[in-house]
Amino acid sequence: MTDKYKNWQQEKDADGIVWLTFDLAGASTNTLGKVAMEELDSLLGELEAQRPTGLVIRSGKANFIAGADISEFTRVQTVEQARELIQRGQAVVNRLESLRCPTVAMIHGFCLGGGLELALGCDYRVADDADSTRLGLPEVRLGIHPGFGGVARLPRLVGATSAMDMMLTGRSLSARVAKKIGLLDYAVPQRHLQRAARELILTRPPKKQASGLQALGNHMLVRPLLARVLRKKVAAKARPEHYPAPYALIDLWREHGTDKAAALRGEELSVARLINGDTARNLVRVFFLQERLKSLGDKRAFVPTRIHVIGGGVMGGDIAAWCALRGMQVTVQDRSDEHLAQVVKRAAKLYKRKLKKPRLVQQVLDRLMPDKQGLGLAQADVVIEAIFENVEAKQSLYREIEPQMKEGALLATNTSSIPLQVLGEALSDPNRLVGLHFFNPVSQMQLVEIVTTPDTDASVAEKAAAFTRHIDRLPLPVSSSPGFLVNRVLMPYLLEAVTLEAEGLAPKVIDAEALKFGMPMGPILLADTVGLDICLSVAEILSKELNVEVPTRLRDMVAAGRLGKKSGHGFYKYDKQGKPLGAKAGRGEYCPPDTQGRLIARLLNEAQACLREGVVSEADLLDAGIIFGTGFAPFRGGPMHYIEQAGRDALAEKIAGLQKTYGSRFDLDEGWRISELS
Ligand code: NAI
Repeated sequence: MTDKYKNWQQEKDADGIVWLTFDLAGASTNTLGKVAMEELDSLLGELEAQRPTGLVIRSGKANFIAGADISEFTRVQTVEQARELIQRGQAVVNRLESLRCPTVAMIHGFCLGGGLELALGCDYRVADDADSTRLGLPEVRLGIHPGFGGVARLPRLVGATSAMDMMLTGRSLSARVAKKIGLLDYAVPQRHLQRAARELILTRPPKKQASGLQALGNHMLVRPLLARVLRKKVAAKARPEHYPAPYALIDLWREHGTDKAAALRGEELSVARLINGDTARNLVRVFFLQERLKSLGDKRAFVPTRIHVIGGGVMGGDIAAWCALRGMQVTVQDRSDEHLAQVVKRAAKLYKRKLKKPRLVQQVLDRLMPDKQGLGLAQADVVIEAIFENVEAKQSLYREIEPQMKEGALLATNTSSIPLQVLGEALSDPNRLVGLHFFNPVSQMQLVEIVTTPDTDASVAEKAAAFTRHIDRLPLPVSSSPGFLVNRVLMPYLLEAVTLEAEGLAPKVIDAEALKFGMPMGPILLADTVGLDICLSVAEILSKELNVEVPTRLRDMVAAGRLGKKSGHGFYKYDKQGKPLGAKAGRGEYCPPDTQGRLIARLLNEAQACLREGVVSEADLLDAGIIFGTGFAPFRGGPMHYIEQAGRDALAEKIAGLQKTYGSRFDLDEGWRISELS
């Protein structure tokens, strides 16, 4: 044992094999920051002199290595600083690779980003075959690509197709799949890991390398062709001006292929440039915003196991299914047997998609109990009401259930519009009610608004946030005001799109403008997907209290039964698979110059108003809510951040100009000025 190193422990066994355990001091997860890398570098120097029989690198934590230390990215201000950071990482992996003894990465849990690149520097890799093992290079999600040798080494090891797919999508692989593509030498149960590592060192089999067809993709004559196919695939998902990293990655690989030294230099320059660009900075920002939301719920504060959901419709059914998937024991109550049957059917479909293995699907289904009589209510730690949006119905339900609930149980409503103060009137203790506002589809939308009034018990809000984390969702505290945060900010933007359509602009042209801004889906398609009836009801609620007009066009559509995707016809028509017809805008379609500006202005103006009114407590939380609740162009870092980056004055002036042309719905919110003064 050496205690010279704070983060690494080494042991030499009877065979002369050094077992090096990475256990980052004071952290729950291993990340490769400056100090840990310097220590590893110095350890490798010692090993060069010692010449052990072999070296095994493993982790002392629940995961192998989650990646580079992302907080160090935020301190990088110049291309030169970035190059230094990357050179340091590359040098350590190169040193590991050049050790004159066999080396093995012994992997369990997450092995991501820089962690996998370190493992690629080893001669061999073995991993625990449990579901919790994940191997991947997710750098593109942060607006960069691998820089510690991933681009130089992975295509050589597993072939270009698998390697580029991993790096371009950022998807992580199970140990089984990683073994299949040649990334691992062995995927074995945990109890055999050590033996497998030792065997590799003692027997020194040939190192893995892509061969045959796998290797063909790296050939200099094939690379340009494959690169073209990859560019096309990427272009279908991301524009180069919004997300330059995947394009840079393809160029890099096409140019250098398996020429390691050149690829390493290319990685260094390319990542150094990307890391200093707006996209990477904003995506790193989004990463930390997500961490911030996670930190708002402390799982230890409340550990619920039994959940009772009342109302098995679109939302209640999916909330119940999701809670069961995340390990809760769930009862779901509805007056209608048919709705309960639908809940189980939809849940089974979700579980099959997520879990694949019938045995696992059945295990989760066993945790989801249809409960027409509401027998689960009295035992539940959390009761979630998701019956239809009607004050009297909800109030009468609360009167009935409150006396039956367990002491200390959380009572939550999924209402999207009724003030908690109004619903609470039916309770003997109104301050126990909290809003848990989920978004549709529950299995895909990470955000949950935690809705409170000034009188809500602090412990209730705390429990609600803890519960949200237990089911792997992101809690956002918002105040009980019309539309809360997400619907309120989103709706004016959707309504502006409807207005543009009513003025005669084709839906696909309107949607194309939003995509150009970076939205993941156009507002017209989004309105159709949410359901035009739901949009109308939210718009009506907002129109009563805010500066929101409901376009006649929307009312007419709903009256005509054109409800969007669910009715097969909204602004678009839908085929049997639910795909919109004619939603792709061709080149050269006419689009009035104000179109994008009008859409975005309504959204930004409303965001500004929410911040001024204190619907959320700060700009960062507003940005997080709008990104995770609506998908707002992540590479722009959120609406408030966008306002600062694009220039507050210039945007305010633009909106004032729109107000002159289009009227009061563009009245500039006072918040623009207040933020300027503060
Ligand atoms: P829904 O109409 O699909 O489902 C309501 C369900 O409640 C029906 O299955 C009905 O049979 C059942 N129900 C009604 N009264 C009941 C009672 N007293 N006891 C037991 N079951 C009862 O409605 P949806 O869309 O699921 O909405 C539910 C709540 O979620 C509403 O408050 C809505 O505002 C909110 N919400 C809806 C969203 C959406 O996109 N649909 C998004 C977020 C919140």
